[in-house]
Amino acid sequence: MRSLNRRAVLAAGTLAATFAPRAGAAATAVAPLRDGHASATPFLWGAATAGHQVEGNNVASDIWLLEQIKPTLFSEPSGDACDSFERWREDIEIVQSLNLNTYRFSVEWSRIEPAEGQVSLSALDHYRRMVLACREAGLAPIVTLSHFTSPRWFAAKGGWFHPDAPTVFARHAERVIRHLGESVSHVITFNEPNLQLLGEWGRTPDPAVRQTMTDMLAAAAKASGSDRFSLMNTGDAAAMVAPVLEAHRQARQAIKGVRPDLPVGMTLAIPDDQAVGPDSRIEEKRATVYAPFFVEARQDDFLGVQTYSRSLIGAEGPLPVPEGAERTQMGDEFYPQAIGASIRYAHAQTGRPILVTENGLATQDDTVRARFIPAATAAVLAARDEGVPVIGYLHWSLLDNFEWFSGYGPKFGLVSVDRATFKRTIKPSAQILARIARSDLSR
Ligand code: FCB
Repeated sequence: MRSLNRRAVLAAGTLAATFAPRAGAAATAVAPLRDGHASATPFLWGAATAGHQVEGNNVASDIWLLEQIKPTLFSEPSGDACDSFERWREDIEIVQSLNLNTYRFSVEWSRIEPAEGQVSLSALDHYRRMVLACREAGLAPIVTLSHFTSPRWFAAKGGWFHPDAPTVFARHAERVIRHLGESVSHVITFNEPNLQLLGEWGRTPDPAVRQTMTDMLAAAAKASGSDRFSLMNTGDAAAMVAPVLEAHRQARQAIKGVRPDLPVGMTLAIPDDQAVGPDSRIEEKRATVYAPFFVEARQDDFLGVQTYSRSLIGAEGPLPVPEGAERTQMGDEFYPQAIGASIRYAHAQTGRPILVTENGLATQDDTVRARFIPAATAAVLAARDEGVPVIGYLHWSLLDNFEWFSGYGPKFGLVSVDRATFKRTIKPSAQILARIARSDLSR
């Protein structure tokens, strides 16, 4: 079976009714907005997942179809994933048991609106139960509305390129927030809408991967009775920026119409970019990959930063990982301190409070994660001590899960999941994060 990581595929150039919280519950973890800034007391210590990667059987989504179609770039289908659609209570209990106070998860649009205009109240209730259970467990629920997947019908209409897409997404956002109610702590509209730009920047596409991508999307269109099939991070990356930012704006407005107090933001993939040599193209990269999103983020309550490693930028563009460097399972350089630089940069560019919405690494050797976590969190807390308004640190991921094109190979979890029984086993590295969180929260 082929195993591709997303960077390789993205570089190929083609991907590239308000509900009252339980008494006292809303007071947990998150303080009201101060001076228009999202501020959180105490610091948000948490773990993150995304619906498609953990729930299982997300059959009405665009990516589910792409996993099934021939040809496909996915190394294996997501199938039952971690069975979290059933086992979410256990997941929440694990987060709680680790002294964390925050759980980030996504709602799957294709479960909520499996056919256009047909809304599943049962699915909305499911996510409402999750939000309330988080509060009961003392966790701030952070909800992502779009974590790469969208409904299959949406992709078959042209996805984010359809002229109605921003309005349709804003309607979905409003519906979700109305139903999930006052207990939601923060909302993330889009997860990494800049990922394709990042993957493609300065790299030469692999023609074979590109061709398979084109064929996979054509097959998905045909299977859906359409002449198009377009989803987040596929197609013309530069052309997708404007409609996605418009969708973000409209969704933010719709959410504020329901809950003016609810902090809204997006997350961006931001490695620690480091210039090498006097002619480094770093500024060109920044202007292309982040700047348009930063402009929009200045209107948001917070910015989510997602960092996995550093990226060296020379005169020709991205440079390879330095020879001899320790690497993660995804081939990235082991470089836990990266997160310190990316949050400083993101804050300097936007002036917004920063939430580390993802940070972690893929490794089969948990002792490597056990080294990563103290170094990464120390970099975050050093930035905070310097006065950068960092409001939280969410580790990716709570569980070993479905890593998109790469399937179940890469292990990002604080917790392993038996692929045959779904039994969760907390790894020693998770206890390290638990100790760090506890000591910070009890300061
Ligand atoms: C990020 C994604 C997340 C996960 C991690 C490893 O880009 O947001 O879903 O796949 O990478």
